[in-house]
Amino acid sequence: MSRNKVTVIGAGNVGATTAQRIAEAGLADVVLVDIVEGLPQGKGLDLAEAAPVVGHDSRITGTNDYADTAGSDIVVVTSGLARQPGMSRDDLLVKNAGIVRAVVEQAAKHSPDAILIIVTNPLDAMCHVALSASGFPRERVLGMAGVLDSARFRTFIAEELGVSVEDTHAFVLGGHGDTMVPLSRYSTVAGVPITELLPPDRVKALEERTANGGAEVVALLKTGSAFYAPAASTFEMVDAILRDRKRVLPCAVLLKGEFKTNDLFVGVPVVLGRAGIEKVFEIELTADEQAAFDKSAAAVQELVDKLG
Ligand code: APR
Repeated sequence: MSRNKVTVIGAGNVGATTAQRIAEAGLADVVLVDIVEGLPQGKGLDLAEAAPVVGHDSRITGTNDYADTAGSDIVVVTSGLARQPGMSRDDLLVKNAGIVRAVVEQAAKHSPDAILIIVTNPLDAMCHVALSASGFPRERVLGMAGVLDSARFRTFIAEELGVSVEDTHAFVLGGHGDTMVPLSRYSTVAGVPITELLPPDRVKALEERTANGGAEVVALLKTGSAFYAPAASTFEMVDAILRDRKRVLPCAVLLKGEFKTNDLFVGVPVVLGRAGIEKVFEIELTADEQAAFDKSAAAVQELVDKLG
């Protein structure tokens, strides 16, 4: 059996940490790509030299040449700019769209059967760019956001109730932004909805902290954004796909009528397996939840429209 191959584009904080997780789990050989000369090669070499100590046989290499990524099973896209002082959200949107388009065109040419996992922000809009740049079917283009947002919600729920994160499950739908929709009714501890375990004001506080989870980390770091939890979340998706686990995970996916939404990438639960998105896991929303979902979808649509 040949080894799995995963390309990670962008050898920055999220990309390098994702590469480390994949390699150290022995899940696949990893190719790190960046536009900066020497950066992916240096991090690749450093990670490879950790292998004897950690004890795995994954090959990790770094490159600036997409020919080295040929035949990848999965391509993870983390390349892009983080928001700088004085920069509008629109600037970030347009600049990262250019970067995502360029790298996906190259990667898709060399790995026409790959599954694309997009991590670059603004996430949902970048998925649209990747879909068009690759020409791939919707089953093979997905965005990492919901796993991260749910992980943040789980962290806060477990902390609030003093229980293990392992017994805590959370459900977050919608776009990866301020309008995301934490679904408390479906967020549980040992199967019991948190709405039965916590007063409404506490539930609301945890939902709000989840929606601001990224900003909370940025405010503390000051010079960058979160990467440990984003990398762990990306790894979980890679693992679900390569091991064909049929995990039910929230991912950004191009909706085709599901959740009353059409032709838009928004976060919803999907079944993830070797074919990528194997099924959109549709659930019944209350009128309030659907309204919050629609509002979140409208925010994504606005960014997509700006890209033209
Ligand atoms: N091709 C390849 N790599 C590129 C390109 C390009 N055209 N443009 C930028 N890069 C690389 C940068 O050189 C840098 O090494 O992308 C990397 C980004 O790394 P960081 O600046 O450390 O950013 P990071 O924290 O990893 O976040 C990357 O993921 O979570 C999102 O919002 C975040 O959009 C951001 C992305």
